[in-house]
Amino acid sequence: MCNAAGSFSSVPDLVIRILSGRNDLFRCRSLRLEVWQAQDGVLSDEMKSNLNDEHDDHALHWGAFIGEKLVASARMCVHPNLADVPDAYMFEDFDLPTPVADFNRLVVSSAVRHRGLAAQFDQLRISEARNLECRSIVAVPVDDGKRPQHLRGLGFSETGIRKTVPWGDTPNIAMYLIL
Ligand SMILES: CC(C)(COP(=O)(O)OP(=O)(O)OC[C@H]1O[C@@H](n2cnc3c(N)ncnc32)[C@H](O)[C@@H]1OP(=O)(O)O)[C@@H](O)C(=O)NCCC(=O)NCCS
Repeated sequence: MCNAAGSFSSVPDLVIRILSGRNDLFRCRSLRLEVWQAQDGVLSDEMKSNLNDEHDDHALHWGAFIGEKLVASARMCVHPNLADVPDAYMFEDFDLPTPVADFNRLVVSSAVRHRGLAAQFDQLRISEARNLECRSIVAVPVDDGKRPQHLRGLGFSETGIRKTVPWGDTPNIAMYLIL
């Protein structure tokens, strides 16, 4: 069971809670770099600044801990207008109701993958988006088959619109959920 204020994850040794304060955010930003570096090798400066962008300052962040160690994190931004979403152009043909939540920056350390953490962060974020009276959610996951499939299972629709980023081989696909 989880709630936005923070509680025990369904995985016994993991605790999920809201991240807050400079120290939490510092650890979260380091974890993102660590996870993507383990996956992609050396990261370009462009990718690093994209991973740890200015939206960190207004976003909600959740983290999963084993003891004091942060092992996974996820971010959600809430925007009053669709035009404020970073990838707004990908949704311009879709008349999504607002406020809109944006799911992004999900990372899970390889040691704790396949235990449902990503799924838990998704559920937590949907629940918090509802609490905050958001009327839709957007996400632009890597189109690796798996993440889009999981989001489809939660009710997300695909726009069919993809983007490629200079630092990645696999395109990202724009998806949305009407709440
Ligand atoms: C993508 C990523 C976030 C997934 O995290 P995760 O916590 O392993 O995800 P989950 O555990 O919720 O789901 C992963 C798989 O484990 C399975 N799973 C979930 N709970 C499980 C359990 N208790 N036992 C066995 N398998 C389980 C899921 O069904 C899913 O199966 P699938 O890959 O066949 O679809 C993680 O691999 C990651 O950080 N990758 C690098 C960064 C990245 O790609 N971020 C997302 C960008 S869009």
